[in-house]
Amino acid sequence: MKSSSSTNPRNWSKKVWLGIAAAVIIIAIIVGAVVGVRESERRANAYPDYSKLNYSLLDTYAGTGFFDNFDYFTGYDPSSGFVHYVDAQGSQILNLTYATSSTAILRVDTTDTNATTGRKSVRITSKKLYSKGLFVFDIVNTPYGCSTWPALWLTDPSNWPTHGEIDVVEAVNGATTGNQMTLHTTKGCEMDRKRKETGKVLTKDCYNGTDSNAGCGVQGSQDTYGQALNANGGGVYAMEWRSEGIRMWFFPRSNIPSDITEGASPDPSTWGTALADFPSTDCNIGSHFQNQSIIANIDLCGSWAGSSAVYSTGCPGLCTDFVANNATAFETAFWQWNSWKVYLPV
Ligand SMILES: *[C@@H]1O[C@H](CO)[C@@H](O)[C@H](O)[C@H]1NC(C)=O
Ligand SMILES: *[C@@H]1O[C@H](CO)[C@@H](O)[C@H](O)[C@H]1NC(C)=O
Ligand SMILES: *[C@@H]1O[C@H](CO)[C@@H](O)[C@H](O)[C@H]1NC(C)=O
Ligand SMILES: *[C@@H]1O[C@H](CO)[C@@H](O)[C@H](O)[C@H]1NC(C)=O
Ligand SMILES: *[C@@H]1O[C@H](CO)[C@@H](O)[C@H](O)[C@H]1NC(C)=O
Ligand SMILES: *[C@@H]1O[C@H](CO)[C@@H](O)[C@H](O)[C@H]1NC(C)=O
Repeated sequence: MKSSSSTNPRNWSKKVWLGIAAAVIIIAIIVGAVVGVRESERRANAYPDYSKLNYSLLDTYAGTGFFDNFDYFTGYDPSSGFVHYVDAQGSQILNLTYATSSTAILRVDTTDTNATTGRKSVRITSKKLYSKGLFVFDIVNTPYGCSTWPALWLTDPSNWPTHGEIDVVEAVNGATTGNQMTLHTTKGCEMDRKRKETGKVLTKDCYNGTDSNAGCGVQGSQDTYGQALNANGGGVYAMEWRSEGIRMWFFPRSNIPSDITEGASPDPSTWGTALADFPSTDCNIGSHFQNQSIIANIDLCGSWAGSSAVYSTGCPGLCTDFVANNATAFETAFWQWNSWKVYLPV
């Protein structure tokens, strides 16, 4: 017997089939959209668990032996600066590095009035290597002035950028726009994610092949570097490097947390929002950052400070002429530290 019931699909018209097909497609789109929204919400809210670690003091760089813990780099400047990096003995004779029981100074030569092939300066690399930790830099004075490019940073110079670079304190020339904190890596480390920081995001891709190796940078306010910082007696930069991410804090001299002053076991989980936050969400911190030395230097001119667009904003003539001729201008070009301390989680 032939059924004429409309519940039998065999008897459905083309129109009905089209209607069903359309309904299925619409449902699929709605479900897809909901799942997609949930997924992008999940991604947008993803944030590492920076819960408290118990830090214990590993290394202290301080006192008359401060500079004994470093190698002095003397090769051709990798950043194309107009500079001659002086060795340990020469730096002591020229008083470019100088340490007492309470303080350490690293400076640019201020005596040569005809430095036609570049001015003498210093670049020190810690003998010890690190792959994580809490780094506390007590800074009295930061270098500044036309042509200068000072930095306090970490990298593995023989495996760059494979082992990454962490720039904790860096500025150029008059340095009136605040400290710049930056990571540089190989491909696959991005910061276009949820972050908790008070600094201003400059760029988000840490890959050295992007934007001519600009890295992923965050900028502090004006008083985090240079003349403004020095006038306040300096302060402390703290950098925490752990698998969940890399964070940096700045504390002016008048507002250093007591657990840093006491020094036994500083606890970043009590310090409030970081100045710069580089979470691991889209960057495997463990694989991108390894085996690093702490480096401090003062470069002159070079690929950043000396680039004509950057140098000519506030500085006279040619960068290399300024370096060669204006010896006394470098009297403000010195680092002064009370101590550097490195803590590891227990
Ligand atoms: C830190 O120390 C406290 C007190 O000893 C302990 O309860 C806690 O589990 C430790 N945290 C870690 C991450 O080891
Ligand atoms: C070296 O520099 C320090 C700090 O500026 C200064 O106190 C000291 O007198 C200098 N030493 C010499 C031999 O010039
Ligand atoms: C500066 O040095 C250059 C090259 O060494 C030399 O030719 C020139 O005479 C020097 N100028 C002065 C004022 O000493
Ligand atoms: C980035 O690093 C690679 C690998 O070392 C290198 O070949 C390249 O020149 C670097 N690019 C820049 C812009 O520094
Ligand atoms: C770590 O760095 C040191 C010094 O730069 C280098 O000699 C050594 O080969 C590096 N180790 C690894 C595993 O890359
Ligand atoms: C030398 O440096 C001082 C201090 O930065 C500056 O005021 C002066 O204009 C400079 N002189 C020349 C010739 O560049």
